[in-house]
Amino acid sequence: MLSKKYSKVAGQSSVIRQIFEYGKKRAEVVGADNIFDFSIGNPSVPAPGSVNETAIRIMNENDPCFVHGYPSAIGYDDTRESIAGNLNRRYGMNYHKNNIFMTNGAAAAISLCFRTVTDYGVGDEIIVIAPYFPEYKCFIEGAGVKCVESQADTKDFQIDFDDLSSKINEHTRAVIINSPNNPTGACYSEDTIKKLASVLEEASNKYKRAIYIISDEPYREIVFDGFNIPYVPKYYKNTLVCYSYSKSLSLPGERIGYIAFTDDADDSDILLGTIGAVAREISYVGVPSLFQMVVRDCVDELADISIYETNKNLIYNALKDIGYSVVEPKGTFYIFPKCLEDDASSFCEKAKEYDLLIVPSDSFSIKGYFRLSYCVPTSRVERAIPLFERLYKDYN
Ligand SMILES: Cc1ncc(COP(=O)(O)O)c(C=O)c1O
Repeated sequence: MLSKKYSKVAGQSSVIRQIFEYGKKRAEVVGADNIFDFSIGNPSVPAPGSVNETAIRIMNENDPCFVHGYPSAIGYDDTRESIAGNLNRRYGMNYHKNNIFMTNGAAAAISLCFRTVTDYGVGDEIIVIAPYFPEYKCFIEGAGVKCVESQADTKDFQIDFDDLSSKINEHTRAVIINSPNNPTGACYSEDTIKKLASVLEEASNKYKRAIYIISDEPYREIVFDGFNIPYVPKYYKNTLVCYSYSKSLSLPGERIGYIAFTDDADDSDILLGTIGAVAREISYVGVPSLFQMVVRDCVDELADISIYETNKNLIYNALKDIGYSVVEPKGTFYIFPKCLEDDASSFCEKAKEYDLLIVPSDSFSIKGYFRLSYCVPTSRVERAIPLFERLYKDYN
C-alpha cells in the first residue's frame, strides 16, 4: 500500500501547470503563434555565451571523473569562495566560503531553510506574505510546520505591518519574503526592510529566540528603472538568503543556487552543519558538479535580461490605458492586474476565449487578480494587447 498522504494527491498538478499543458494542446489546434501563453515563468533569454564556453572548456580541460563526479555535500570550496567574493564586491559584505551552502536552486534553498529553523510537528510557525509563491505552503507543511498567511498592502504590495505584527507569536520561527516578488513584481523599499527588521528584532527579544528572515531572491537582478534592491542581511543579521541562477544566468534546468548567512547570525557556528544535516535527511546531497564550476567562473555574468523591462513597459502601459487596475511592477517578469470580475478563475476562463492564458490569483492565496508572465518574445506581448482590449470591452 502506498502513502495515504501522497497517493491522495497523486497526479494533481498545479493550476499553472494545467494551464501550460492546455496551451500546448490548444497550440496544436490553432497554431503556436495564435496562443498567448502567459502562464509560466520560464526565462525567455538564453544564458550568456560565456556559460556554454566555460562549460565546454571545463569538460575539455579536466578529468571526466572529476567533472561529473560527486561534489562535496556543501559545495566546492572554490565555488563558494567565488560566490562570497561576488557578494562582498556588490554589497560590501564580509562573506567567506563557510557562509555559503550550495543548493539545487532556490526551491531547495528555501526548503532547507524552513527545516533548519523549525522542528517537526511541535507547533512551529512560518509567516508568508500573501500573495506568495505557492510552493512555500507545500514546503512549510511538508516540514510539519504551520503556514501562517499575512496579507500584503494591495495598494503597492509592500508588507502590511499591522497585519504582520498580529500574526507574530511565541511559535513564529521565520518570515519568508520575496523581493522582487512573484507574482506581483513588487520590490520592497528600504523603508519596508528597515521596518521589518525592527518588528522582528523586537519580537525576537520578546520571545527570547531569533525569528529569521528567509529572503527568497531568485529575481534579485531583474529590477526596472534602476531600482536599488536593499540587501536584506545589511539590515537584519538573522537573514538566510536563498539565491538561484535560474533567472540571472537563465539556467533553471541546471538546478543551482545557494544559501548565504553572515557570521553575526545567531548560531552561525553551527548553521552550515545544521543545513547539511537537513540536506542529508531530504537527500539534497549535492549540486551538479559541472555547473558549480561554471558558476565559479561566471559568477559576475548576467543574461541579457533587458527584454523583461521592455515587455513590462509595453504591457503595463497598455493595460493601464485600456482601463485595467494594475500596480506597476518594479521587477521580475510578472504583472498582477485586477480581474474584471470577483471570481479570478471565471475571468481567466473567459480570457481563454481569446486564447489568452493567464493564471488566477487563487493560486497565490489572494482573490480577484491574475498573473501574467511576460518572459516571452516582445511580439507576443504586442499581439496580445488588442485581445486584452476586447476582453475588457466584454465586461464594460
Ligand atoms: C518566488 C520563487 N521562489 C523560488 C523559485 C524556485 O526557483 P529555482 O528554479 O531556483 O528553484 C521560483 C521559481 O520560479 C520563484 O518564483
